[in-house]
Amino acid sequence: MKLTGNEWMGEAEARKSPARVVLVGSDGRLGSALFGFLKHDHTVIPLGRGQLNLASESSISDTLEALDYEFLFLTAALTGVDYCETHKQEAFAVNAAAAGRIAEISARKGAHMTYVSTDMVFDGNTELPYLETDKPGPISVYGESKLKGEDYVIDTSETNLIVRVSWVFGPGRRAFPEWIVDQACSCSSVMLPADKIACPSYTLDLVSWMTMLVFGEAAGSAGGIFHLCNSSPCSWQEWGQFCIDTARASGHPVIVGEIGGVPLDSVSAFVAHRPRNSSLNTAKFSRRIGIQPRHWDDAVHEYITGSNWRGSDVAESAGI
Ligand SMILES: NC(=O)c1ccc[n+]([C@@H]2O[C@H](COP(=O)([O-])OP(=O)(O)OC[C@H]3O[C@@H](n4cnc5c(N)ncnc54)[C@H](OP(=O)(O)O)[C@@H]3O)[C@@H](O)[C@H]2O)c1
Repeated sequence: MKLTGNEWMGEAEARKSPARVVLVGSDGRLGSALFGFLKHDHTVIPLGRGQLNLASESSISDTLEALDYEFLFLTAALTGVDYCETHKQEAFAVNAAAAGRIAEISARKGAHMTYVSTDMVFDGNTELPYLETDKPGPISVYGESKLKGEDYVIDTSETNLIVRVSWVFGPGRRAFPEWIVDQACSCSSVMLPADKIACPSYTLDLVSWMTMLVFGEAAGSAGGIFHLCNSSPCSWQEWGQFCIDTARASGHPVIVGEIGGVPLDSVSAFVAHRPRNSSLNTAKFSRRIGIQPRHWDDAVHEYITGSNWRGSDVAESAGI
């Protein structure tokens, strides 16, 4: 049985009263989805870059010290994997040191913190989806900086929550599905890595699952590390093929038939190394919450054929 976040929380007799929540990163892809979800049940203070600059210690302190909150979500990050590779200091300041500073302030207030992390904390040299207990081994500056952020947040309070996600897509900010559909509508041939494996994660699913972990249990919020993504790993090539087939079936002028496969190592445009197989095992989440994440192709189909799908008019980074 598939339950929505609100139905599940009702069944679990979860928290009834609205919580005071701070959301750092409310303008981002995941942050905007989380804001949309949380604001129905809670009092949320959304903070974008204009209200809190993660690169500035004083901005973090001045903003957060003045607020009274019980829960904080940190979805903001320096997410450009190749940009981080050549801006190491900034990556560590934003993805690690800022997270640590926010964790300290939140702990002093007795507030629970959720830090969103990444599959890129792993080296990718595996055949099985990673468990939360598997040893990280980042192979990029982005992955290193996010792992350091995890450490700061958990070391400050073991009741804090780390949520590792991968290949994030959803309404509000373009990601891989928009990019590949654009490519398939404008180029006669498209190639993608066939040996790069991960799990797509739909923001609207992620925010419902994150909310279950934080607010869904009468006994208290989940702490420690949880892997969250839609189910079933796939290759970049498979994900792209499904996106363009779905777009074609729903009337987009796709001119590419089959996406060709190339080795990940042959993509010369990438500055940073990407893990070959960074798929995540979500069994810990399912044991805790009692639901199975739906298959990624169900989520991708819902997104591309739904009213939230943004055409090809916005030239933003696809964040891949
Ligand atoms: N995207 C993925 O595929 C993916 C995969 C694995 C994990 N994750 C993790 O998931 C989380 C959410 O990612 P997302 O896809 O929602 O990313 P996103 O859309 O790039 O959002 C990141 C947000 O962080 C903000 N930000 C960056 N630097 C900042 C600074 N110095 N001060 C304040 N805000 C700053 C950005 O502000 P602007 O809007 O001003 O740029 C943006 O709103 C991140 O923690 C990321 O590491 C993402």
